[in-house]
Amino acid sequence: MITVKNDKIFIENFGVSELSKEFGTPLYVYSSEKIRNNFIRTLETARKYYPNFDLFYAIKACNNPNIANILVKEGAGIDAASINEIKLAKLLGLTGNKIMFSGNFLSDEDLREGIESGAIINLDDKSLLPRLLKFGIPSIISFRVNPGYGESNVGEWVTNAGPKAKFGLHPNHVYDAYQEAQKAGIKRFGVHMMPGSCLLDPDYFFKITKMLLKIIIPIFKDLNIEVEFINLGGGLGIPYKKNDSCLDLDKTMKGISDIIIKECNKNNMKLPTLYMEPGRYFVGDAGILLGKVHTIKRSYTNIIGTDISMNTLARPAMYDAYHHIYIDGKESDPREEFGVCGQICENTDYWCRERELPKTVEEGDIIVVADTGAYGFGMSYQYNGRLKAAEVLVSKNEVKLIRNRETFSDMLINVVLSEEIKKTTK
Ligand code: LLP
Repeated sequence: MITVKNDKIFIENFGVSELSKEFGTPLYVYSSEKIRNNFIRTLETARKYYPNFDLFYAIKACNNPNIANILVKEGAGIDAASINEIKLAKLLGLTGNKIMFSGNFLSDEDLREGIESGAIINLDDKSLLPRLLKFGIPSIISFRVNPGYGESNVGEWVTNAGPKAKFGLHPNHVYDAYQEAQKAGIKRFGVHMMPGSCLLDPDYFFKITKMLLKIIIPIFKDLNIEVEFINLGGGLGIPYKKNDSCLDLDKTMKGISDIIIKECNKNNMKLPTLYMEPGRYFVGDAGILLGKVHTIKRSYTNIIGTDISMNTLARPAMYDAYHHIYIDGKESDPREEFGVCGQICENTDYWCRERELPKTVEEGDIIVVADTGAYGFGMSYQYNGRLKAAEVLVSKNEVKLIRNRETFSDMLINVVLSEEIKKTTK
């Protein structure tokens, strides 16, 4: 997707300097081909081993509807974390069991709108069940189980299961939750978990699948539940660092399938539909972020000052996350150690420290931050009067603006100006 020709950086057939001239910086750029291929590869690989397999896209990873639509057109459902994400899924024509609603700490309003939307409701605690039932009896329900273990390559704070996580049902509560749901008249059931993000080791997926099955199989047998689906969540990782190895998808999908088929057969259970709901794996390596170098500061350390700030790309400041950096046109130049900063008045905006980058870097250069398609724009915010970036989508030979850059009037859009201020601005 990214190619370097004579030191110039291209995404598909588009040079990053031309894109930044046309659309300005900071700019998120995504490749539709890459997104589509990531999805098709995942689906085809999984179905080789487990034909009754389907995918949802965790739209939180990148919530531009034009991006999600690429996946929806290939058959993806949407994993929604909130009512507004359900609305995005509906905007793309999805209904019913093509939307999985996995919120947490939901309000009554969320539960009411969730059930009215017809999405599959995936509850994060058993205490939510009686509150949900006030608004109706869903035709199908699942519970998110915290199997007691999680992992993440992003860091401790992106580990979504285990004793320190806020998510999911404690294994001791799973039996009661399903029994209460049965007593309430619910007839169809699934089960869900999401223990971690950005994993590159297939063994992790085998471990959590075994843990989940160990918890749920005796419960389902005892309650006479024929489980319709098992949703293993997301978590398929991408290599952010050049030395990271890729996740062996074939091995992962084969191993998961073998475990489920073996355990179900052993327990005389009908094979459920298997779901996964990746976010990062579909869009992470399909997006780049372009910025401009505004200052080279040679002070206590060497700093490249850019217009890519922590409000535009939060991951490095939040999690110390690594992203590869290119300087357009200078890739084969000799290297020197630099840090990279944005324009926000916080020192966490010194978001990359001690990186070997071209020593010829100068004002006006274009900086390219790789693998920013997931949790990039979606986690961006306004701060210091620095506004949200624009987004463009490229296919082999076409480039489309898919989100306008924010402007000063967007900054004020929800502000209720007092009469006094209005008078002075007349
Ligand atoms: N399903 C549920 C219920 C989730 O909460 C998530 C992500 C996913 C699926 C998709 O996970 P993925 O396949 O992308 O690992 N902001 C962090 C990642 C947080 C993940 C939150 N949940 C980051 O920038 O790395």
